Amino acid sequence: MKRRAHRTLSTPPSGGPFPPTGWAGAPIGSAVRAAWSGARTLEAVIESGSSTSEQRSRGGGAAALSEWIAAWQPEDPAVQSARQRAAEVGVSAVDVPTGGVLRLLAAATGAKAVVELGTGAGVSSLCLLRGMRSDGILTTVDSEPEHQRMAKASLQEAAVPSGRARLIGGRALDVLPRLSDRAYDLVFCDANRSENLDYLDAALRLLRPGGTVVFAGALAGGKVAESSARDQDVLALRELAKVVRDEPRLASAAVPVGQGLLAACLVD
Ligand SMILES: C[S@@+](CC[C@H](N)C(=O)[O-])C[C@H]1O[C@@H](n2cnc3c(N)ncnc32)[C@H](O)[C@@H]1O
Repeated sequence: MKRRAHRTLSTPPSGGPFPPTGWAGAPIGSAVRAAWSGARTLEAVIESGSSTSEQRSRGGGAAALSEWIAAWQPEDPAVQSARQRAAEVGVSAVDVPTGGVLRLLAAATGAKAVVELGTGAGVSSLCLLRGMRSDGILTTVDSEPEHQRMAKASLQEAAVPSGRARLIGGRALDVLPRLSDRAYDLVFCDANRSENLDYLDAALRLLRPGGTVVFAGALAGGKVAESSARDQDVLALRELAKVVRDEPRLASAAVPVGQGLLAACLVD
């Protein structure tokens, strides 16, 4: 395969074409990538020894691995700005590795139509859009007008054409009945955790055969596996995992990335 020559960029790709070229694995120099992202280079992460066996045994392995992934595949400046907005309004956005998995799932399903519940400031929206087909449309729902304003700014900064994202203000359970049956390739649920079982019901109706539903934070960062964790949220997540696993129309997997993803493909 012919490799493209390394490029040198004096300005970040923000505001350029969407999706931007030269990020997340595109063949540009690691120093340039680090300058864009503000992240440490892959070499610096490894050299600092942040993933020593001593750290791993103290439970620091996951954080070190996350940092390695962020250096390996840095996010472009528009996604970083979206993260900053999320932090400003106190929204917890998906982490870098989880964003990568969302992008992968959108690409692997050839997603043209995606529903996102819980837009936040637009971090996961951008990750999904990066993976979707270039003519795909993201329908994203959030009940907080302030978060929607942030998300709109994030999409604008990333130069996402207005026709590619439908931002709907409202509560997920009020909006979902208005969406068409079997019309979507991917449903990403990251809104109100206590409503996850209702989102699952809706996803089973909205997805086309072969489509995928994904729940964010579904492993509560590992707490679902701790016998001492018995709070309502964890109990609800264990129940969700059981229902998804036992649904005969779904082929499911729990993915221990970030706070944990639960993903399931509609096989029937
Ligand atoms: C964890 S944040 C989403 C973060 C976003 N997915 C990301 O990774 O960038 C959850 C969002 O869901 C919204 N939300 C909470 N309950 C909701 C509901 N019932 N319907 C719609 N949105 C809701 C909140 O306003 C918040 O913006």
